[in-house]
Amino acid sequence: MLNIKNITIQYGKKKPVIEDFDLNINQGEIISIVGESGSGKTTLIRSIAGLLPGEGKVIKGNITFQDESLLNFSEDKWNEYRGTKLSMIFQDCGSMLNPIRKIGAQFVEYILTHEKMSKKEAYDKATQMLYKMRLSNINNIMNSYPFQLSGGMRQRVGIAMAMTFKPKLLIADEPTSALDVTTQAQIISQMIELRDKYNTSIIIVTHNLGVATYMADKIVVMKDGKIVEQGNKFKILHSPKSDYTKKLLDSVPVMEGKRYV
Ligand SMILES: Nc1ncnc2c1ncn2[C@@H]1O[C@H](COP(=O)(O)OP(=O)(O)OP(=O)(O)O)[C@@H](O)[C@H]1O
Ligand SMILES: [Mg+2]
Repeated sequence: MLNIKNITIQYGKKKPVIEDFDLNINQGEIISIVGESGSGKTTLIRSIAGLLPGEGKVIKGNITFQDESLLNFSEDKWNEYRGTKLSMIFQDCGSMLNPIRKIGAQFVEYILTHEKMSKKEAYDKATQMLYKMRLSNINNIMNSYPFQLSGGMRQRVGIAMAMTFKPKLLIADEPTSALDVTTQAQIISQMIELRDKYNTSIIIVTHNLGVATYMADKIVVMKDGKIVEQGNKFKILHSPKSDYTKKLLDSVPVMEGKRYV
């Protein structure tokens, strides 16, 4: 459903940060991307969502989503697709909420721009989504300004919004790294449920090999803007081919004589 073919990405005139990169994801597949800081994970997945920052540009290759070239999308087309067909969750997506409007008003308006329904129905839909994010006192949250919530609560509001329309593709960049372990587990399980129920494809970037392994069908290991290894998660974990993947695995903490993943 998503096909990345031979792309090269550059910021301004600097040396490309992603080079000749290929990746395919099938409908309903979950891919975890791991790799050291600066290896280009965020750059790669932002390019899929058409959200490269600054002077970032795909200078070569193509990205197709359900047989349409994403690189040719107009702003209007993006507005139609983003949030409904293809959603992105950033590490700090809670910070993208409008600071001077209450959560409820923003969430209801977001739903109404994408779906015809009454305000009351949109409100109910929003509260159901927040409930799934393990938030309590939901009416209270709906009635709060973003600054009245903790960072983790705002993040969960952002994740709830991204998942509302059961997108065909969900792209997540370190979505839960700022959350406590229990909340993280709940959100991971909501993402897996989205895949199981609605056949959503998911690409998740994470530094947590435990999360990567738990969620993914396939793991992609990146280094210096390239894939060093990819494949079935068990294969990657139990018989890593590249020295780099071995090093990554060695850096996973060992607890009670057992490795975490
Ligand atoms: N807005 C930008 N302008 C210029 N260069 C950038 C920009 N964003 C990222 N880069 C460069 O692109 C390279 C890859 O960065 P990227 O953020 O994609 O890495 P990452 O794998 O997501 O790292 P991390 O694990 O720390 O999030 C780095 O060398 C970085 O300096
Ligand atoms: Mg990153």
